[in-house]
Amino acid sequence: MKSLVLVTGGAGYIGSHTTVELIHAGFDVVIVDNLSNSRIEVLDGIENITGIRPSFENFNLCDAALLEEFLTNYPGIQSIIHFAAFKSVEESVKQPLKYYKNNLLSLINLLEGMSKHRIPNLVFSSSCTVYGQPDHLPVTEESTVKAARSPYGNTKQISEEIISNAVETNSAVQAISLRYFNPIGAHPSSEIGELPLGIPDNLVPLITQTAIGIRDYLRVFGNDYNTPDGSCIRDYLHVVDLARAHVFAISRLLSLKNRANHEIFNLGTGEGVSVLKMITSFEKVTGLKLPYKITNRRPGDIEQVWADTRKANRTLGWKAEYSIDDALLSAWNWEKRYRKSH
Ligand code: UD1
Repeated sequence: MKSLVLVTGGAGYIGSHTTVELIHAGFDVVIVDNLSNSRIEVLDGIENITGIRPSFENFNLCDAALLEEFLTNYPGIQSIIHFAAFKSVEESVKQPLKYYKNNLLSLINLLEGMSKHRIPNLVFSSSCTVYGQPDHLPVTEESTVKAARSPYGNTKQISEEIISNAVETNSAVQAISLRYFNPIGAHPSSEIGELPLGIPDNLVPLITQTAIGIRDYLRVFGNDYNTPDGSCIRDYLHVVDLARAHVFAISRLLSLKNRANHEIFNLGTGEGVSVLKMITSFEKVTGLKLPYKITNRRPGDIEQVWADTRKANRTLGWKAEYSIDDALLSAWNWEKRYRKSH
């Protein structure tokens, strides 16, 4: 019998790509998503790629009664991958309580539901934001977790702590937190990709929207940082690589190979790339000229961060395989296809 995975936020960017990889790996998937920042058509994309339409339930995980009803109706769930969360740094500064309530309550409800319904495995969607500006690069999982710069970042830190405390008191639950660096790109089929509702916050959707003419130019937030070309540096990884890592994490928990009840892994390529380098790579792979202007620094931006990926490589057995060029081309193909059909 196939193992059933609940993917919360499975209609979202990383959740939808992970659902595809789980189905490819032979898992059954049920998605819970309230479509607060995603669209139902994503299910068509998943079905077009895999030939399978995952089960889908639309409700808010902050509603414990609805979650309880759902878990009673799906008794076979063995694992949960928890993506469903608000993710805008800027919005979280303006509406902190909205972020704390949504991101923490949903996790607490899930952990209570796991305990009650004897669901043993949790994979949590964390972020490299927990490191702030690290003292040493590349950043390892042992690096200090710095005071969060935003309520969004704080919800990730607090969530990891809640999980650690919960598994300490309930050894029947085991968890893996995955600290993502910067996911970019789209599925090579262009059936699914990043679909920011409204104005995007992140670099790559802004690059592709500028290239397609939705925006006049890209703003490069500062070229006076202490980096080789003056622009900020990040560790950008292909979303399909990131999605695959979740299959490794679930398999590790299911086969009881984990060495602690709450393990943490960095997920990145291990390479830092500057904003200006991202622009030249995009221009190279697409043959386009991208209009951009250097502007002021964005408040709260980290100067540079990239991952030490050795733990994920050795222990999880996962390694990023796609290049930045692959990821940028897939993002561009997705943007073109999406605009043609909408
Ligand atoms: C941000 C969050 C991170 C969160 C992630 C979610 C901060 C400090 N970090 O990551 O916690 O997990 O989003 O997706 O806010 N850039 C431009 N012009 C633009 C947009 C971005 O130059 O129009 C630059 C930024 O300065 C940055 C890089 O592109 O150097 C990447 O930015 P972005 O995609 O927003 O991700 P992060 O800031 O790394």
